[in-house]
Amino acid sequence: MESMGTLRRTHSCNDLTSADIGKEVILMGWVLRRRDHGGVIFIDLRDRNGLTQIIFNPEVNPEVHEKAHKLRSEWVIAVRGKVEARLEGMANTKLDTGEIEVFIDELRILNVSETPPFPLDEESEVSDNIRLQYRYMDLRRPEMAANLRQRHKAVQSLRAYLNDNDFLEVETPMLTRSTPEGARDYLVPSRVNAGKFYALPQSPQLFKQLLMVAGIDRYYQIVKCFRDEDLRADRQPEFTQIDMELSFMDQEQIIDITEGMIAKLFKDTLDIDVAPPFHQISYDEAMDRFGMDRPDTRFGFELVDLTEIAKTCSFKVFRSIADGDGTVRAINAKGCAKFSRKDLDVLTDYVAQFGAKGLAWVKMKADGEWQSPIAKFFSDEERAAMTEALDAEEGDLLFFGADKKSVVLPVLGELRLEIARRLDLRDKKVFNFVWVTDFPLMEYDENKKRFQALHHPFTAPKEEDLDKLESDPGSVYSQAYDLVLNGTEIGGGSIRIHQRDIQSKVLRALDISDEEANDKFGFLLKALELGAPPHGGLAFGLDRLLMLITGSDSIRDVIAFPKTQRATCPLTEAPAGVARKQLTELYLRPDWKENTDD
Ligand code: AMO
Ligand code: AMP
Repeated sequence: MESMGTLRRTHSCNDLTSADIGKEVILMGWVLRRRDHGGVIFIDLRDRNGLTQIIFNPEVNPEVHEKAHKLRSEWVIAVRGKVEARLEGMANTKLDTGEIEVFIDELRILNVSETPPFPLDEESEVSDNIRLQYRYMDLRRPEMAANLRQRHKAVQSLRAYLNDNDFLEVETPMLTRSTPEGARDYLVPSRVNAGKFYALPQSPQLFKQLLMVAGIDRYYQIVKCFRDEDLRADRQPEFTQIDMELSFMDQEQIIDITEGMIAKLFKDTLDIDVAPPFHQISYDEAMDRFGMDRPDTRFGFELVDLTEIAKTCSFKVFRSIADGDGTVRAINAKGCAKFSRKDLDVLTDYVAQFGAKGLAWVKMKADGEWQSPIAKFFSDEERAAMTEALDAEEGDLLFFGADKKSVVLPVLGELRLEIARRLDLRDKKVFNFVWVTDFPLMEYDENKKRFQALHHPFTAPKEEDLDKLESDPGSVYSQAYDLVLNGTEIGGGSIRIHQRDIQSKVLRALDISDEEANDKFGFLLKALELGAPPHGGLAFGLDRLLMLITGSDSIRDVIAFPKTQRATCPLTEAPAGVARKQLTELYLRPDWKENTDD
């Protein structure tokens, strides 16, 4: 192995263009691949920024050429050479450096590498576990390096916007108490306080409200949050929020400032204009039209309510549901009548996981004729009315769901997404933003037999609903808002309660006793008694935003060192066991045994 000697890098591996022809340059990086062509050795040299083709010619410099023979994938080298134009017709338009190559006069081998655990120069099927175990190799891949670069750019853009808009960046504690965001806490035992635990923050919610009481006026923080919950492609146990809070502002003002931030973010990262103001729809409308509160509005197939029409039909299932407290809804999958019997069976199985008891369908034939196992149960008038309501025409495929609203909406909402997925309608290059507003303040949890806050317990009710807090809490709407991008909730927030008496009423409606409230967040309640200004805010999921900006399928691809679905890190093997002594020091009993029952 050699040192860099006197060589000092002059360019990155993505810098050189035809403007540099004739220059002597020094490059350093990794050998991506080596090809021998009739004695001449071609190497793609890679660094974080890109590739440069370098050439060793035995005729010109036999000694260096001999040395280059030894080079293998992922060896680290420094080279000095001259930039030349590629031969006529040999330019590679896919590379920024595709017009040139560098003829090498000096080669220094800075380090060798064993054979990489997976090839870095091609799209190959590598298991996520192996990628994460050798994450430092995975991050060498250009797509991954590009994602990290994009993340860096995004954070610069967000900070610049917030700084320019008079926000103060303030850090809040990581060792703290539980914040009620609805997930389980990660706990940290205290060594100096026997039997006591800190919780890692699920969000800085309470601290940012206290900062408003402190008069900070506009706060932001790009902050890690921790939630012990079941993981999915868009969830990680630790993730990053762009957390904001503002005083003396109403919902529209907060939305307006936030839209400016998002517009700048998309301009700075993707150079596209996303043109605020974004569309706003109420929670009720989102549920009615899309079956969910995070609507993907890149395509149609919206839900249509057919309950009234179904009341007279002779299909028993539909009729009894329509006459009872259920609902009959349908979507029109435009142009999908070509779906096969098997497709229909697969979709029926698909919706079963969301609780569907069946999935009636109709293929639209010429002249409004229905081809369907349930066609016979409907009169000509009923069929005509449904056809019209669904705007159905020849070649369309209609799907019906009949059940309680709480079943039909998610079933048809998920079906809508699945059909769009199959038809490739979820174009990653289209960015459809929609604010979902006017959420219910709380919803009744049948299992726990109590109301739960839909956002969190500090969200302000709508002023006009205040008098219903005690009499009919389930009908109270809140001043909460989510920003949804292409069917993913990228951010959410609310105007907060800043008056102590209203906070008490909401806590009571949520069945949280004074004692429990005082114990868990008495410090916030006290602050509300000491001159809290009107305030509100929101938090964006930075990882989710970047997943969408980079077109990645998982948020893991935009996080340098993410965790697996089981919340483990295959690289460091965290979480790991600890010495008995550490446990006893923390007043934890070391007699825990792995539960092999589940
Ligand atoms: P919320 O819980 O909606 O609100 O979180 C805000 C945003 O954070 C992102 N997010 C996640 N991203 C990755 N992995 C996770 N496990 C995860 N959980 C949430 C989402 C979400 O929209 N304190 C409030 C905000 C407020 O009211 O100001 C809060 O945390 O994109
Ligand atoms: P059946 O008469 O039970 O064979 O049902 C006829 C068709 O209606 C089948 O395609 C079922 O999948 C469908 N179906 C049955 N129950 C429901 C329901 N609750 N919602 C939607 N479709 C249903």
